[in-house]
Amino acid sequence: MTTVSQYHQRTKHRFNRYAKGPETLDWDDQPDPFRRFEGCEIVSLPSPGEDLSVSWRQLDRPRQIQTQALSLDTLGLFLELSFGLSAWKQYGPDRWALRNNPSSGNLHPTEAYLINNVSALMPQGVYHYASYHHHLERRAAFSAAEVNDSLLIGLTSIAWREAWKYGERAYRYCQLDIGHALAAMRYAAAALGWRLQLLTVYNDQEIAALLGVDRVDEFVDGERETPDLLCRIDYKNADEFSTSIEREREILLETLQQADWYGKARSLGAYHMYRWSLIEEVEKAAEKRDHQLIGVSEAGQAVIESAGQANVSSIIRQRRSAQHFNQHAEAMPTSNFYRMLSMLMAENNPLLDVWPWRPATHLALFVHNVEGLSPGLYCLPRSQAALLTLRQQFSDQFEWRSVDQFPSLYALHDADLKQIAKALSCHQAIAANGAFSLGMLTEFKDNVEQSDWHYRRLFWECGYLGQILYLEAEALGYRGTGIGCFFDDEVHSLLGFSDDELQSLYHFTVGEALLDSRIQTFPAYGHL
Ligand SMILES: Cc1cc2nc3c(=O)[nH]c(=O)nc-3n(C[C@H](O)[C@H](O)[C@H](O)COP(=O)(O)O)c2cc1C
Repeated sequence: MTTVSQYHQRTKHRFNRYAKGPETLDWDDQPDPFRRFEGCEIVSLPSPGEDLSVSWRQLDRPRQIQTQALSLDTLGLFLELSFGLSAWKQYGPDRWALRNNPSSGNLHPTEAYLINNVSALMPQGVYHYASYHHHLERRAAFSAAEVNDSLLIGLTSIAWREAWKYGERAYRYCQLDIGHALAAMRYAAAALGWRLQLLTVYNDQEIAALLGVDRVDEFVDGERETPDLLCRIDYKNADEFSTSIEREREILLETLQQADWYGKARSLGAYHMYRWSLIEEVEKAAEKRDHQLIGVSEAGQAVIESAGQANVSSIIRQRRSAQHFNQHAEAMPTSNFYRMLSMLMAENNPLLDVWPWRPATHLALFVHNVEGLSPGLYCLPRSQAALLTLRQQFSDQFEWRSVDQFPSLYALHDADLKQIAKALSCHQAIAANGAFSLGMLTEFKDNVEQSDWHYRRLFWECGYLGQILYLEAEALGYRGTGIGCFFDDEVHSLLGFSDDELQSLYHFTVGEALLDSRIQTFPAYGHL
């Protein structure tokens, strides 16, 4: 078995045994969720919180959204809507920040960096985005021989932040968070009339070198960052770049070798009670080593149009995870249910264009309370090609009745699955009390056999779909919650899987949220 497969098997939660994690947690000694570099020049960004006059429904036709000129204002807005704070919460003596991008356990392993080669914007260089201060820390200064107009954004993960609480399974959550962050960037870019391209041509070693996270002496041992992905921000929305992606890669790799680097990462503070060597092993094994250049996907077209009048910026800032659902809520209208499902399909969601690979994630849905649909188990293949595989893998007890109003959805089995969904999601009531919950089934075996790094890509895809659900639910007046805690093989055996052809990597739930009035809310950037 490969290291990646071993990792995957070993980090499954089981009814009788959770994946290995810390035995005790000292909540007063949590790793700092805000990375800071000391000794860097700071570039202030204009005050956060500005609203854009783009409504949610306009996202159905992103090419028609007016393109905002690139400036520190618009760049700041892009960063804020992707990774900035959304609120502070307080319960008794505990106070914590929430962000526009969600994160498993609110631990936020994801860090964001810009590589700026637009000299009119700010001095060329590599910048770390510090979301607490909403400013940029200039990690590197360079002057490219060939100045071009490119602006890249890169993401990395600090696995320790997540492993502090979740132990060995944490690596999975870091990858899911990357998927959420990628989608968060895509939606933020769309609100500004920009696009985003995932640059598959870089391997991890190159991304690490460009972002400076391979400069191990500048990070505390055990708190280093691993590279995840790099995107080009298409702020002209026109594909009009003076330099090709390959040429730009050559320029940047050469230029960054001569760059002057500044600053050191401040310690995240917490005492390292455990060292999760399995995570270090899987990080190494799942490194991306290829340089395959894949272009942007063709943009989809919404088939069920949004009626959402609210600002995109306000939807993004108000997005929250539901902690409780109203189990007595009225049934969700099918139009809302189908709108959400349709936006998960590449051919229907223009903002899935940043995902360059074919869909490899499909849904098993536990429908609890949707108008006109019998409660029960449903399946949504996200590609026609996958239907056959799914039918072969699922138990042959299921019916596979195509749903009239939404033919790509299949009804498999009518039943009240609330208690089963709850039990499978680590006994969390949120999986039972909403309108529906679901498991994301990935084409696991083929992808991971092709390349170990595809393991990460499958999680990213799930995270991306999760972020779409969060935002679409919010825009429709509902609320979602990502569910990373579920009993893997118990889900698989319910569906009838006999091998690892398909594996569930993420769960999600949507419904009418109940608010906890004991928790107080404060403005995101009141501290500035
Ligand atoms: C990958 C991932 C897994 C999550 N798993 C769970 C879960 O199992 N149970 C839960 O109640 N919340 C879960 N959440 C929700 C997070 O706890 C939540 O995003 C975080 O506390 C930040 O709050 P916010 O989403 O309201 O900003 C998950 C979120 C993500 C992104």
